[in-house]
Parts: sequence; structure tokens; C-alpha cells
Amino acid sequence: AIERTLSIIKPDAVAKNVIGKIYDRFESAGLKIVASKMAHLSQSEAEQFYAVHKERPFFKDLVSFMISGPVMIQVLQGEGAILKNRDLMGATDPKKAEKGTIRADFADSIDANAVHGSDAPETAAVEVAFFFPGMNVFNR
Ligand code: CMP
Repeated sequence: AIERTLSIIKPDAVAKNVIGKIYDRFESAGLKIVASKMAHLSQSEAEQFYAVHKERPFFKDLVSFMISGPVMIQVLQGEGAILKNRDLMGATDPKKAEKGTIRADFADSIDANAVHGSDAPETAAVEVAFFFPGMNVFNR
């Protein structure tokens, strides 16, 4: 099915100047960027976005990393977009990510891991609505 998923290029990858290289991976895999914006998240936005992780030991470090610089946020649309994006990203820990994945090629650590992608249809819907409420998703 045609799906939409929320993707974030994290501060480490934005600082490395590889937004375009990562966008090329999405487009080459047949995913279409149907919404995008650059933002420097506030602490409360980052805490809300990652609320599912708030009891995890890495939550504080995750939030402070995500607000350490600007991020590029996009909605990817395409056949099986959620899983396709997760395949392109590779494992959360770049040391475990398969060769040729975004994290294997651009990430430095499990915290500075270059990209975020929604993990399921339910979270994708919530995450897309969080950053792109209303009508500013362009379908064509
Ligand atoms: P992301 O897909 O953005 O979702 C939560 C983030 O927490 C994850 O990527 C990692 O960057 C970060 N993180 C840090 N430590 C861990 C861990 N042990 N397990 C999962 N995620 C972690």
C-alpha cells in the first residue's frame, strides 16, 4: 500500500552537509518527499516528539542531542514507505547497520545516528501530524 512516514535528518547529518545525499537515497528508492522543513527544535518539542521514550535511560541525552542544532524534517510517501525507509536507514546502532545504509555511511554513534524514521503505521500517523498538522502535505 502507498504509505507516508515521518523522517528526520538529525543534527549530526545536517552539520555534515549531507541532506542532499540522504534525500537522493529516498528518491532513488522511489520515495517521494511530499513535505519538508528545517527546524531547530525546542526542548519541549523534542520531549513531546520522543514522549514514548521518556522512561528510557537514554531519554535526556536523546533530547539534548536533538536540540543541539537544526534538523531537516520530511514526509516520505510511496509503496511500503515505512519499511522501505527503515531499510534505507539501517539499524539504530550504526555499528550494527548493514553496509550501504544511511546509518552505516553517515552515522557516528547510537545517539548521533543521522536519521529517524517512523517504525509503524500508527506512529507514522502521529509523527506526521506532529510536525505537519493540517494541509501542508503535498500529494502530487
Ligand atoms: P530514533 O529512531 O530517533 O529513536 C530514538 C532514538 O534514541 C534512537 O533513534 C537513537 O538515536 C537513540 N538511542 C540512544 N540509545 C538507544 C538505545 N539503547 N536504544 C534505542 N535507541 C537509542
